[in-house]
Amino acid sequence: MLVGYATSDDAGVYKLNDELAIVQTVDFFTPIVDDPYDFGRIAAANALSDVYAMGGVPVCGLNIVAFPLEELGADVLEAILLGGAHVAQQAGVVILGGHTIKDAEPKYGLAVTGTIHPARIVTNAGARPGDILALTKPLGTGVLATALRRGSIGADAMAQAVSWMSTLNDRAATAMLAAGAHAATDITGFGLLGHANEIARASRVSLAIDAADVPLMDGVADAIARGDVPGGTNDNAAQHRTFASFSRSVPESTRIALSDAQTSGGLLVCLPPEGLAAFEAVLDETHSYHRVIGEVRQGEGIVVR
Ligand code: CO
Ligand code: CO
Repeated sequence: MLVGYATSDDAGVYKLNDELAIVQTVDFFTPIVDDPYDFGRIAAANALSDVYAMGGVPVCGLNIVAFPLEELGADVLEAILLGGAHVAQQAGVVILGGHTIKDAEPKYGLAVTGTIHPARIVTNAGARPGDILALTKPLGTGVLATALRRGSIGADAMAQAVSWMSTLNDRAATAMLAAGAHAATDITGFGLLGHANEIARASRVSLAIDAADVPLMDGVADAIARGDVPGGTNDNAAQHRTFASFSRSVPESTRIALSDAQTSGGLLVCLPPEGLAAFEAVLDETHSYHRVIGEVRQGEGIVVR
């Protein structure tokens, strides 16, 4: 075993020989959007993301499905699986099969197997003082999903979040490998600060984040101002105060956004400064999103300034 539980990494890694290791991960959840096809795409992109976050290449997957067939019908199930298959195909991943159980609440996701070179694993534990922090998707899916559920935004405003959530982190992974990244993780349920802290702890460093440079999706600041904040995000924010220190200039609404529970978020990457140009070049080639949001320092915890 090369990577297991100890460092809160995104996926496990098991060495087969000196040249080859397998990366394994599983993720599934309840629908966060009404459209079954979109739900399938999002769940698949989210499950694949943990392989990309390690620097691996996903190869094959298994569908994991819980579904109330009598209530919702076969067409809905088919649309979910089609969405998942579409994103898997985009990633070059073969769906080998899967398993379905009856359940009152639908759930969908994938168990994914990928490959990686045993010497090129990008874990949470490798960040070094002086590294640059980059993020590859803006934040706000939790807040926007809550705003949609409460009817304070329409499906149009949610469409950008759906598009981000169904975007693969494949390009971001290629870019970080080209840049010789020291550490990376994907941003999901614990929010930016929660996942940043996993890197800080595993690497025994401090992460300094420039709040004004952290990108938010359109409408997120307004939604937070209206109070459209999911319970999970509020819980995150309360917990994050135990290890994050904030400059006075950072408004409360920004603090909430930095703790927002994400679905299928981007990669948070720790890059050696000399790798930044290569990282940006790979992403710019396909007009893929990226922002520098801070740096790694000596010390511990998270500093938001
Ligand atoms: Co992850
Ligand atoms: Co995961």
